[in-house]
Formats: sequence, structure tokens, C-alpha cells
Amino acid sequence: MRKKQNDNVYHRNMSGLLLGACLALLMLNSCDTAVNTPLFTVEPLPYAETALEPYMSAETLQYHYGKHYPGYVEAANRLTGQNRFKGKSFEEVIAQTKGRPDDANIFNQVGQAWNHAFFFQALSPQGGGLPQGRLAQKIDHDFGSFNKFKSKFVAVAKELFGSGWVWLVLDEEHLKIVSTANGDTPAAHGLKPLFVVDVWEHAFYLDYQNQRIDYVKAVLDHLANWDFAALQLAQHLP
Ligand code: FE2
Repeated sequence: MRKKQNDNVYHRNMSGLLLGACLALLMLNSCDTAVNTPLFTVEPLPYAETALEPYMSAETLQYHYGKHYPGYVEAANRLTGQNRFKGKSFEEVIAQTKGRPDDANIFNQVGQAWNHAFFFQALSPQGGGLPQGRLAQKIDHDFGSFNKFKSKFVAVAKELFGSGWVWLVLDEEHLKIVSTANGDTPAAHGLKPLFVVDVWEHAFYLDYQNQRIDYVKAVLDHLANWDFAALQLAQHLP
């Protein structure tokens, strides 16, 4: 009888140990899955490749969305797969690599992956025209008028030497237009992006050749998704 009781206790203890071990393995596995999740995925294009014509051709999007963007995502995920970046957010990786010459490639690839995801969302086949509501009021207040805002945006694009991005951002409570070079991104400067135009040559050369400013004006007039920009404003400045 005593042996039977001991056996039962032994089996209960072993069952408990096995259950505990299984739970620990499950937790380890899920933790491991969390830290091994790539930082980026290629976000779906929110319109057809032909939808932005004639202002941005399907051929441009086939190269830009189909080849350049996934290339940045692949490089960013490969480079942030190192132990020092595991489990880090985009903002944390940017803060950790900013201004460090040895990390310049990581900083630029990670910035490019994020910037491109934002850029394709910031365009729309129904884009252009005038912003509405609070965004329109804020543009009028901070730039004087929508036309003055557009002139400033084009001027900043003209001034940018080499490859980069022109952004409408929120700096604290004020709208600003800034450019960033290469893969630099507003998160590195404490700025909240509302809208962007990619002014790397791969974004426009097939359609506009060397006429970068014609491309920027066409995006502002016909493709800019002001509803998307208004949504960003509402999120950052409720
Ligand atoms: Fe690009």
C-alpha cells in the first residue's frame, strides 16, 4: 500500500516536471520566434502598378516597388539579424546606428526599408488636389497658403544634392519641410513624417529622365495622398 502511494506521488511529480519542462520549452520557443522575427516585411502596394499612370509608370513601379524596395527590406533584415539588434524596434535600431560610421550601411538600409513603405502609402491614384480639414488649416497657418507650401516643397527638392527624400513633417506642433540624404529618416531627428517624395533617381528617371522637379510637381499635383497625410497628423497630434 505504501509503495502504491509512493508510486502515485512519483508519477504526479514526474508529470508536473514534464508539464513544467514543456511550458518552458514553449515559452523559449515563442521568445525565440519573437526575437527572430524580421524587422521588416514588404508591405503590399495599395494600388495597381498601372494606377499611377501617366504620372508614374507601371515600369517605374515594377523596378521601384518590385526590385529596389524588397532589396532594402532584405538587406535591412539581414543586417539587423545580428545579435545586437535582436528584438529591437525600427526606432531603436536607428538610434543605435545613427552617426556611427561603422554602422552607416545598417542605418541607411533600415532607413530605406522604412522610408519606402511610407512612400508607397503616401501616393494614391486619387491623389493631388487640395488637402482638407485640419491638415489644410495647419498648412495655411504654418506656410501661409497651400501654394506657398508647394513652392517651399519644390525649393527644398531643388536644394537637395544627390539622392534622398523630401518630407512634410511635424516638429513638435509645427509643420516643416525637410530633406534627408540617402537612407536618412525623420525618426533619426525626432520628427514625425506626414508625407514624402522619394527623389532618388530610381523613383523618376524612367519617366522624367533628369527633370527631377517636374516629377516632384507631378506627385504634388496628381499623386499626393493628402488623406494619408491627414491621418498621420491626427495620430501624432490628436
Ligand atoms: Fe526609392
